[in-house]
Amino acid sequence: MDLKLRPSFFTSFFVFIILLKNPDFASAATSPRCISTEREALLTFKQSLTDLSGRLSSWSGPDCCKWNGILCDAQTSRVIKIDLRNPSQVANSDEYKRSCLRGKIHSSLTRLKFLSYLDLSSNDFNGSEIPDSIGHIVTLRYLNLSSSSFSGEIPASLGNLSKLESLDLYAESFSDSGAFALRASNLGWLSGLSSSLAYLNMGYVNLSGAGETWLQDLSRLSKLKELRLFNSQLKNLPLSLSSSANLKLLEVLDLSENSLSSPIPNWLFGLTSLRKLFLRWDFLQGSIPSGFKNLKLLETLDLSNNLGLQGEIPSVLGDLPQLKYLDLSANELNGQIHGFLDAFSRNKGNSLVFLDLSSNKLAGTLPESLGALRNLQILDLSSNSFTGSVPSSIGNMASLKKLDLSFNTMNGAIAESLGKLGELEDLNLMANTWEGVMGKSHFVNLRSLKSIRLTTEPNRSLVLKLPSTWIPPFRLELIQIENCQIGPSFPMWLQVQTKLNFVTLRNTGIADTIPDSWFSGISSEVTYLILANNRIKGRLPQKLVFPKLNTIDLSSNNFDGPFPLWSTNATELRLYENNFSGSLPLNIDVLMPRMEKIYLFHNSFTGTIPSSLCEVSGLQILSLRNNHFSGSFPKCWHRSFMLWGIDASENNISGEIPESLGVLRSLSVLLLNQNALEGEIPESLQNCSGLTNIDLGGNKLTGKLPSWLRNLSSLFMLRLQSNSFTGQIPDDLCSVPNLHILDLSGNKISGPIPKCISNLTAIAHGTSFEVFQNLVYIVTRAREYQDIVNSINLSGNNITGEFPAEILGLSYLRILNLSRNSMAGSIPGKISELSRLETLDLSRNRFSGAIPQSLGAISSLQRLNLSFNKLEGSIPKVLKFEDPSIYIGNELLCGKPLPKKCPRDINSRLL
Ligand SMILES: *[C@@H]1O[C@H](CO)[C@@H](O)[C@H](O)[C@H]1NC(C)=O
Ligand SMILES: *[C@@H]1O[C@H](CO)[C@@H](O)[C@H](O)[C@H]1NC(C)=O
Ligand SMILES: *[C@@H]1O[C@H](CO)[C@@H](O)[C@H](O)[C@H]1NC(C)=O
Ligand SMILES: *[C@@H]1O[C@H](CO)[C@@H](O)[C@H](O)[C@H]1NC(C)=O
Ligand SMILES: *[C@@H]1O[C@H](CO)[C@@H](O)[C@H](O)[C@H]1NC(C)=O
Ligand SMILES: *[C@@H]1O[C@H](CO)[C@@H](O)[C@H](O)[C@H]1NC(C)=O
Ligand SMILES: *[C@@H]1O[C@H](CO)[C@@H](O)[C@H](O)[C@H]1NC(C)=O
Ligand SMILES: *[C@@H]1O[C@H](CO)[C@@H](O)[C@H](O)[C@H]1NC(C)=O
Repeated sequence: MDLKLRPSFFTSFFVFIILLKNPDFASAATSPRCISTEREALLTFKQSLTDLSGRLSSWSGPDCCKWNGILCDAQTSRVIKIDLRNPSQVANSDEYKRSCLRGKIHSSLTRLKFLSYLDLSSNDFNGSEIPDSIGHIVTLRYLNLSSSSFSGEIPASLGNLSKLESLDLYAESFSDSGAFALRASNLGWLSGLSSSLAYLNMGYVNLSGAGETWLQDLSRLSKLKELRLFNSQLKNLPLSLSSSANLKLLEVLDLSENSLSSPIPNWLFGLTSLRKLFLRWDFLQGSIPSGFKNLKLLETLDLSNNLGLQGEIPSVLGDLPQLKYLDLSANELNGQIHGFLDAFSRNKGNSLVFLDLSSNKLAGTLPESLGALRNLQILDLSSNSFTGSVPSSIGNMASLKKLDLSFNTMNGAIAESLGKLGELEDLNLMANTWEGVMGKSHFVNLRSLKSIRLTTEPNRSLVLKLPSTWIPPFRLELIQIENCQIGPSFPMWLQVQTKLNFVTLRNTGIADTIPDSWFSGISSEVTYLILANNRIKGRLPQKLVFPKLNTIDLSSNNFDGPFPLWSTNATELRLYENNFSGSLPLNIDVLMPRMEKIYLFHNSFTGTIPSSLCEVSGLQILSLRNNHFSGSFPKCWHRSFMLWGIDASENNISGEIPESLGVLRSLSVLLLNQNALEGEIPESLQNCSGLTNIDLGGNKLTGKLPSWLRNLSSLFMLRLQSNSFTGQIPDDLCSVPNLHILDLSGNKISGPIPKCISNLTAIAHGTSFEVFQNLVYIVTRAREYQDIVNSINLSGNNITGEFPAEILGLSYLRILNLSRNSMAGSIPGKISELSRLETLDLSRNRFSGAIPQSLGAISSLQRLNLSFNKLEGSIPKVLKFEDPSIYIGNELLCGKPLPKKCPRDINSRLL
């Protein structure tokens, strides 16, 4: 046998090699099997296609049965199958697009008299219509034209395909040329397929014109097993179905993503062969009917995202013996889940694998019967109103891989038996109000755990009391623990987690040092490193590379030592509220080139602010407040077009405000207060027309108040206090329409308050300023900016003239301070028009005349100071202030609370 086989083996091997090298030679050697009229028909078909990737390059030899995608009948050599489905599986990939056939479908296909299978799916026919001629290939049993960018009306001729068993017209399009809409305004033609069609997919086909009878038309398909009308723009779901309807074999029904907005109809429960029912995103209303009990074969039920299904979950769902997958998420279901879960637990052989009840209004405690779901792998109960504790039966759910109880109001303890779930990979218990202690037994067998999220409210006490040397069986990829006590030590179970790609340990009471080896261990994978609000101490390891890091937040700890020389493409760095010291690296642009937000405030950094920050071109926020930076502020701004927030206040920065800041067209918040800056405000700043907040107070700035301020139409806060500005208040200032806070106090400004001050429309009309306030908060993260109110402070200058009546138009003003100036004249009688005033300080001027009675009508007034003026007469009784110091220094003033009594006549005249 062996000896005889060998030569023949070699012969065929030889032929095979020749075949490989020269297919034409091979075909020439054997006579063509393909019928020549069919070959011609196929070539004509090919010629009208565009085939960029050369998929049809084999379509040239004489034997068309050997062509790619063609199958002939073995006996008759007739072409029976054409499969030109896009070979690339990833829709929209470059590979997919290149492999798309384009062009026209030629009617020559009708000449293939035995064709039973035609698949032209996932190509790109660029919005052309499905040719009528396809309906003439009456031998077809399988037709797949899905995702091929056809548009227009589906030809009624398809109704001629009386042998068709499978029709896939799913119309989601991946064409670059745009979205195309395939529609069917009449489904009457389906009746021609009524005794053959088993599979029909018209997903994404616009059926909104198909009338009220669409269901009637479909229900004639007596062989139908699978019907998919996903996103088909159906508007009405008939509530009844005629008795002649013939869908008894239907196993799969998908009507998802239509706008049905009706109750769940009862005719569904006559479809007793149903195994899978998808009705998600349909806006269905009403309750879930108990008729589901008839669907004994149901395996999958998806009623998710209807947003409006109400009432309790009927317990009959728990009786369905085959149910594997149940998704009722994102509805308005309410009540408890006891009845429904008890039913499952009675149904011992329950097969449920997936249960999602998230985003409903379910309440009550989690019943012990939960533990009966022994095959359950995914349990999502998040975003409901469940209360109480995690039941101890949880430990029986031996198949559980994902447990999500997040965003509830669970306020009890977490059962120890959790620690038995050896398959558990993803544990999400965040955003509840947990209490109690979690110990080693909660985690002891969680060998598959990859992700844990556990957060509670700041005022709750959940303690993780794990032995400090315990080595856990899991290696986490994600950890998020907030407001739970882990510390004071940085325990061994955390130290061994070096596969982490996401770390949040916020407010966990850790007051330890963290070993360098932990940082270097996670450095290659970690994307978020958030250790904020602990008391972690010690130095950070210096040179590390973090290739995947996105955000570093080590804020509000006790870290000390130098700035970490970490090489990273992270975009956010928060080191604020620590004890870091030393200077910033000169090559910060090389180490952290992608930084967008740098927060270093409240540390002890020294040295100059490195100029290389100008090279960090995506920089948006630079927050350096309250350090010991000295030298001049970088002058090199030329490319930071995204920079919108600078806070370098409370440092020791000297020199002039750099001219080049004017290049920063996005600049919105500029806080340089409490430094040693000198010179004038550079005119170039007028280019930053989006400035909302300027604080240059507490410097040594000189010159006049700039007139170009009027160009800053978004300016909300202007603080120039405690400098040496001179000259008058320019009229231009009145033209800043959005100004809510003006502080010019402690300068050398002279002249009167301009009468145009009433043009400060934001204060006159009380427009809201939360947006601007938020901008300062984002930059400074300082709560004090959240208490900002409309205010004008001109105190400590040399302002002359009278109290301008125009100020009375600023009726939303809450603080007015004109103290320590040289103003004179009387206080206007109509002062009560400032009806929201809380603080009024006019002390140390030369105001004269009587204190107006109407001051007493300002019910919001809490602080008043009129001391050291030339006011006279009796203090109005309506003023309830008891502190005499607010009136002293006015020689001619009398009455309570001053010790000086008024002469009788004055008193009675004023009362
Ligand atoms: C039609 O083709 C697509 C791929 O283009 C495939 O996903 C789908 O399952 C096919 N339809 C049928 C009914 O075989
Ligand atoms: C698709 O059709 C549009 C208009 O019918 C045409 O402008 C465009 O060139 C076509 N694209 C391709 C790739 O054939
Ligand atoms: C095919 O269908 C069309 C439209 O329904 C009809 O006009 C035509 O007569 C049919 N042809 C055959 C061969 O049945
Ligand atoms: C669907 O078809 C109807 C008419 O049949 C039309 O009014 C509607 O705009 C179409 N929808 C889309 C998204 O094209
Ligand atoms: C915890 O604080 C939140 C708000 O911070 C409050 O609503 C809640 O009542 C507090 N709970 C307890 C128990 O103090
Ligand atoms: C940052 O990105 C650049 C360019 O994508 C890359 O060359 C560099 O290695 C990255 N840096 C780090 C620390 O991963
Ligand atoms: C103040 O507003 C009035 C009326 O809108 C306008 O005529 C006047 O020019 C404004 N004054 C200044 C200085 O902008
Ligand atoms: C205040 O201004 C007045 C008038 O312009 C001037 O006489 C006086 O000297 C100034 N006082 C101070 C302290 O600058």
